[in-house]
Amino acid sequence: MAKVVFFTGAGVSAESGIPTFRGKGGLWEKFKVEELATPEGFFRDPAKVWEWYDMRRRAIAEAQPNEAHILMAELERECGDVWVITQNVDGLHRRAGSKKVIELHGNIWRVRCLECGATYYEYRTPLPEYPPRCRECGGMLRPDVVWFGEPLPVDALEKAWDLAKAADFFVVVGTSGLVYPAAHLPYVAREGGAYVVEINPEETPLSSVAHEVIRERATVGMRKLFPRLVRECERGRT
Ligand code: OAD
Repeated sequence: MAKVVFFTGAGVSAESGIPTFRGKGGLWEKFKVEELATPEGFFRDPAKVWEWYDMRRRAIAEAQPNEAHILMAELERECGDVWVITQNVDGLHRRAGSKKVIELHGNIWRVRCLECGATYYEYRTPLPEYPPRCRECGGMLRPDVVWFGEPLPVDALEKAWDLAKAADFFVVVGTSGLVYPAAHLPYVAREGGAYVVEINPEETPLSSVAHEVIRERATVGMRKLFPRLVRECERGRT
């Protein structure tokens, strides 16, 4: 069966009202990466980092998955062998109904205790205090996301690599392709024989890796590509 793999970044959630990181209006224009998204920044001022994450959690809680997330989930329901590898921490792919989701950079709703190592989902927002405390041991919690300078979760990265290698159709949606190792995946897919499509209103370093580029927003691009993706899946079934 044809394996369709989506590789997504912040741009797929932009039409849900969640800001991207780079570009005009991006989070890194207003906020300092080194203060908010590095272990050093966290240990310097955990309350400040948590306040920022809680602001983002609130915005995400109020957002809804958009048509791009929904069409990816629909394709999985129709075809089965469809995966989403995402750099996003917002959880919107799962909320849209996708089940085969690999989260390379963690999840903003999961917390990790720095004392006892417990990890669990904590959906309250606003949180009762900054930094929040572990429900198991009272230790300080951190968001279970990947910060700059930190390794990606090994299982997720290995699975993503295997999927990229085995993909027949690899669709890159809404990522600037600047953050590694995630940005290697389209190269791995292409070398593995996948047909690579990019959906992004802007040119990116990954555009040259793609066989085909759809210069549209994620919702429009997914709407255009969807019938072909369904056919691709059906072809794989026969
Ligand atoms: P970026 O903010 O770097 O890039 C967003 C991309 O989305 C850009 O290429 C935009 O052109 C595109 N875009 C904007 N609106 C779009 C729309 N409506 N439809 C489709 N595309 C759109 O976000 P990422 O590539 O996800 O890492 O960034 C990668 C990583 O850098 C993030 O996971 C995060 C960040 O710092 C960590 O936190 C470790």
